[in-house]
Amino acid sequence: MSDSQILVAKDIRKSFQIGDREVGVLHGAHLSLNRGERLCMMGASGAGKSTFLHILGLLERPTEGEVLIDGQDGWSLGNTQRASLRNRTLGFVFQFYHLLPELNALENVVLPARIAASHGDSPLTLQEATARAKQSLEKFGLENRMDHRPSQLSGGEQQRVAIARALLLDPPVLIADEPTGNLDTATGGRVLELLLKEQEERGLSMILVTHDPRIAEACDRVMAMQDGQIQSDTGVEIPH
Ligand SMILES: Nc1ncnc2c1ncn2[C@@H]1O[C@H](COP(=O)(O)OP(=O)(O)OP(=O)(O)O)[C@@H](O)[C@H]1O
Ligand SMILES: [Mg+2]
Repeated sequence: MSDSQILVAKDIRKSFQIGDREVGVLHGAHLSLNRGERLCMMGASGAGKSTFLHILGLLERPTEGEVLIDGQDGWSLGNTQRASLRNRTLGFVFQFYHLLPELNALENVVLPARIAASHGDSPLTLQEATARAKQSLEKFGLENRMDHRPSQLSGGEQQRVAIARALLLDPPVLIADEPTGNLDTATGGRVLELLLKEQEERGLSMILVTHDPRIAEACDRVMAMQDGQIQSDTGVEIPH
C-alpha cells in the first residue's frame, strides 16, 4: 500500500449460505482507491457491486480477503476497533437512504455522533454535532425540513439528509451505492451535483456505484465488475 492509496482491497471473496448450498458472489475482487480520487464502479445487476461496497465499508464481513484503510486491515480488528476505524474514515450512502423513520432529519444527521459517543469515541460533542448537522442541512437547502421525518420528505430530500449524515464526522472516504438510482433524472442530477461538489471541497476519496453513464463521465476512473470480479480498470471505455 503506497501513501497515495487510502483504501486497498485484496482478493475479496464472499459466499452466502443458502439452505445447504454455498453461493459464491465475489471471487477475488481487488481495488485500490487513491487519495482525493473519484472512482466509479459499474456492472450488471447481480454482479456483486453492493456486496463488495458493504465489505469495503466494513459493514459486511468477507469470507476471505483484506480491506486496508489508511494501512489498517479493517477486518482483522475486533468489533470495537473496527467500528472506530469506520467512524473515523468512512461515510456510506445507500440507494434507499436508510434513514431511521422515527427520527427527524436533524436527528438522523446527528446519529453517527450519538452512536460514536455511546462507544466513548465521538470526535464531536453533541452540541458540535448538532451545529454541524444544521449547517450541512442548510447548505443542502433543507433548512425548512429539519424537523420532518423521512416519510415527510421527498426522495431527493431524503438522499440529501443521508449525504449530510454520511459526512457528519468528516470522513476522508465516501462510498455511495447507486446514490441517484431511486430518483428521477432531474432530482438525481441535483443530488449528484451536490455529491461531487462536496467531494471536491473536502478532497474526499470517493467510490460511486452507478448504472448512469453521466456519473461515470464525472469520475477520474471507471471500473467494471462482472461475476464477482473486477474485470477492467483505468482507461476503461464508459458503457453508454
Ligand atoms: N445476504 C445475501 N444472501 C444471499 N445472497 C445474497 C445476499 N446478498 C447478495 N446476495 C446475492 O449476491 C449477488 C450479488 O448481489 P449484489 O446486491 O451485490 O449485486 P449488485 O451488483 O449490487 O446488483 P444491483 O446492480 O442490482 O444492485 C446476487 O445474486 C444476490 O442474490
Ligand atoms: Mg447493488
